[in-house]
Amino acid sequence: MHNKFPHLFEPFKIDSVNLKNRITMAPLFTAYAHKDGSVSSLTLEHFEEIAKGGVGMIVVANAIVDESGSVSKHSLRVDDDRFLPGLSRLADTIKKEDVVAVLQINHGGHFAQGRKTISPSSVSLSDLNLGGLYKTALKSLDFQQQWAVLSEAIQQHPKQPKKMTEDDIKYIISAYAKAAVRAKKAGFDMVEIHGATGYLIVQFLSPRINNRKDKYGGDLENRMRFPLELVQAVKDAVGNDFPIGYRFLADEWMDDGFPLDEAKIFAQRLSALHVAYLSVTAGTYESFSRPVIVEKSHELGYMVYLAQQIKEVVEVPVITTGRITSPELAEEILREGKADLIGIARPLFADPQWPKKARKGNEKDILPCKDCGTCFQLVVSDRPALCAQWGKAKLIERKTMIKEVHNPRKKILIAMDGSENATMGAAYAADMLSNRKDVFITLIHIQTDEPDNDQQGINEMMDIARSLLIKAGIPKEAISVHISKKEVGIARDILREIAEGGYGTVVIGRRGISKAQQFLFGSVSNKILQNTGDYTVWVVE
Ligand SMILES: Cc1cc2nc3c(=O)[nH]c(=O)nc-3n(C[C@H](O)[C@H](O)[C@H](O)COP(=O)(O)O)c2cc1C
Ligand code: SF4
Repeated sequence: MHNKFPHLFEPFKIDSVNLKNRITMAPLFTAYAHKDGSVSSLTLEHFEEIAKGGVGMIVVANAIVDESGSVSKHSLRVDDDRFLPGLSRLADTIKKEDVVAVLQINHGGHFAQGRKTISPSSVSLSDLNLGGLYKTALKSLDFQQQWAVLSEAIQQHPKQPKKMTEDDIKYIISAYAKAAVRAKKAGFDMVEIHGATGYLIVQFLSPRINNRKDKYGGDLENRMRFPLELVQAVKDAVGNDFPIGYRFLADEWMDDGFPLDEAKIFAQRLSALHVAYLSVTAGTYESFSRPVIVEKSHELGYMVYLAQQIKEVVEVPVITTGRITSPELAEEILREGKADLIGIARPLFADPQWPKKARKGNEKDILPCKDCGTCFQLVVSDRPALCAQWGKAKLIERKTMIKEVHNPRKKILIAMDGSENATMGAAYAADMLSNRKDVFITLIHIQTDEPDNDQQGINEMMDIARSLLIKAGIPKEAISVHISKKEVGIARDILREIAEGGYGTVVIGRRGISKAQQFLFGSVSNKILQNTGDYTVWVVE
């Protein structure tokens, strides 16, 4: 047992899942995913760094269960099987460091982006004093940035969300269940249902938002129905061997909101359903900006009293979060039995080595979170998270990676088959892209075993294409040549390259083949056109 912090470094078991210590990373949304919601290399890098710092469990924030619930252009998505390969890599990255991997799943309800939001009631956001989220974010921005954020907010949030029908409710519950099954398939150890911060589940629980007259609104029993049905559906879908955690709102911190006494009853119901843990938090986007709450949330361990009160009424482990900045404080909370596990979000973002430093007794070296709010202000205005405490080298490295994810260079593939049309394709691309510095171009040739395969001719053609592009002002280092042997078929090989390389534009010359040949075999360009996925094709004839 560790001498200085024996409770903090004591192993723990959540159902059948073993944690090497009691330190968990609470979800911290970073906006590091690709714009399509897939896992980016930046996401992997971020979580690898946290996992290597010695934490026992990581909750990956805010993966969206249905497109209608996306809260940011760069939220992770788990609403389709196409996200599975990236999510599997993410789960592996975390687990290979002997860290438990949890995926938090969410639907934003009326806080989602886009014009067609859904919520239990058609209450307009301005009626709810939405301003809070943005007011908090705006304080540190200059005048121009404030306008940008405000105008985006106005566009994103329609005045009134659509009131969910019972069919909508069934559909969203099944979306959560399917998302959890995907998380399990991807290799995560658990999912965490996001029942806090004011998102869809809270919109059902809150008496000030939910004004439904049917079985999903009114008294507490009815307001709890949606989350309880949802948890049960997720459990049924994933089976008993896959634990389901829950991010729990213990108090909405609004006068007419969801209060602690109701939260205690709800916690007992979740406990009876055998959720794996309750990660206790409080407040929503609307209450975060209330002066009294702003003041309160600067205090160390400001939500521990809530975790303690919830722990007293449930049978499942409780995680407490909120300004638990030092190992000494974390140790004290555990020693006094106020919670079972410690959740840390910002202090781990500031210094991923927090657990290792504490373990070695070097807690004085921990780079502290200053509670400055920069990371939060960035993500609520849909920008990627950075920490004001990071040194220059880390900031530069992170910003470079962020640029590739948020403003990726346009990747263009030019298929070079040795024909005159292919060279014309390259000339056309040079003309269209002249002086562009934000592109990355690959000239690709698939070699066949046919006797007329003129390798020298191909090399010369590649040189011509390259010099055409350079003459047009495209930087040399942005042009690469890729020659590979045919594996399946020319069109199929090119299609695979397009998908794996993430190309957005494909330039291809159509060979002068006869109509009869095209009818029988289909030309390469036809096959690529017919397969059009998430890319544009320029066919040059
Ligand atoms: C930038 C940022 C993003 C957050 N994103 C999420 C989230 O996606 N899901 C969630 O349940 N909580 C989220 N939180 C809340 C944290 O998990 C945590 O409860 C809060 O920051 C207090 O803990 P801390 O003082 O350790 O940061 C976020 C907090 C911050 C600052
Ligand atoms: S120091 Fe500021 S930016 Fe860094 S984690 Fe803490 S609050 Fe966020």
